[in-house]
Amino acid sequence: MSALFTPFQLKDVSLRNRIAVPPMCQYSAVDGFTNAWHQVHYASLARGGAALVIVEATAVSPEGRITPACTGLWNDAQAEGMAQIAASIKAAGAVPGIQIAHAGRKASANRPWEGDDHIAEGDPRGWDTLAPSAIAFGANLPKVPKAMTLDDIARVKADFVAAARRARDAGFEWLELHFAHGYLAQSFFSVHANQRDDQYGGDLAGRSRFLLETLEAVREVWPANLPLTARFGVIEYDGRDEQTLDESIELTKAMRRGGLDMLSVSVGFSTPKAKIPWGPAFLAPIAERVRREGGLPVSSAWGIDSPENCERVIAQEQLDLVMVGRAHLADPHWPYYAALALKAEKPSWVLPAPYAHWLERYAVAE
Ligand SMILES: Cc1cc2nc3c(=O)[nH]c(=O)nc-3n(C[C@H](O)[C@H](O)[C@H](O)COP(=O)(O)O)c2cc1C
Repeated sequence: MSALFTPFQLKDVSLRNRIAVPPMCQYSAVDGFTNAWHQVHYASLARGGAALVIVEATAVSPEGRITPACTGLWNDAQAEGMAQIAASIKAAGAVPGIQIAHAGRKASANRPWEGDDHIAEGDPRGWDTLAPSAIAFGANLPKVPKAMTLDDIARVKADFVAAARRARDAGFEWLELHFAHGYLAQSFFSVHANQRDDQYGGDLAGRSRFLLETLEAVREVWPANLPLTARFGVIEYDGRDEQTLDESIELTKAMRRGGLDMLSVSVGFSTPKAKIPWGPAFLAPIAERVRREGGLPVSSAWGIDSPENCERVIAQEQLDLVMVGRAHLADPHWPYYAALALKAEKPSWVLPAPYAHWLERYAVAE
């Protein structure tokens, strides 16, 4: 019996297996609106057999977009397209999730395939960015952000709450707060980005405050019976990793007390000087430590995408869910082929019935 293909329950949400599609920006929206590309993309991923499909980092405000082509949920009209996406994910038997985000000092960038750098000063496509302190990320993202006032902080928290409400009303059943990857929330936590001397900076409690307050405010509008999760970079690989990991675990415990149901364990990406030890499943042992010490179910990603590695990290209880990203872009039916490779029971039934019925005979004939 394959561990990867056992169901998982979180609050009132039942996942048909342990495979999730992590949020992956499509950089294909106009003014934050989704279109036919997003409809087809998300429906095909859900049809492929993953239990959970999380819609890409969706900005809570225009200035919170990574690029001008990122999706948004800062107005009700944008929620209409998102409601169709949620419905088509659900029709394929997967749980519809969405990540809501503010890109902070990494905002106002060109698409990855058009440079992946900040839009040049003076180019009308760009905008002023916000961050805890007026410190640029550096490297390809040199733009100096505006240090947020207390009013800015209050507004962005309210933007997260409004976007969460729209996601709820659009039919999403799983909400992920983007607290990772050097974007706004992660940069409040990071000593590389936060040099504030008020209550939102300084010690661990100060650097955690924006994340905890945002989480608690969102929890009030996000239904109690549905999972509220966050993606957070627990480590930077910047030479102070034990300290960061200890602090991250303390924050994880505080987020659990604040109503978080699960953590998606990732890397901080707060400094271009990080030396990340890329390799298959390199984050799994770290995620396992966060799971054990933080007391929350966890998921993770980054090269956990061979069926055997996925099976191992679930069977060994390092992770509760695997996030399989790029392998799903290569083949939206990745879960079906993983089920065949792992000789899971009835592999074709990973897929929805209109496909599974025909492929069952096909698989048996093989
Ligand atoms: C095209 C693309 C877009 C991405 N966009 C997001 C995003 O919106 N939010 C996020 O948290 N991570 C994003 N990521 C990171 C993925 O969620 C995932 O962590 C990464 O692809 C590593 O997993 P993998 O090795 O299975 O691909 C993106 C990755 C890719 C390839």
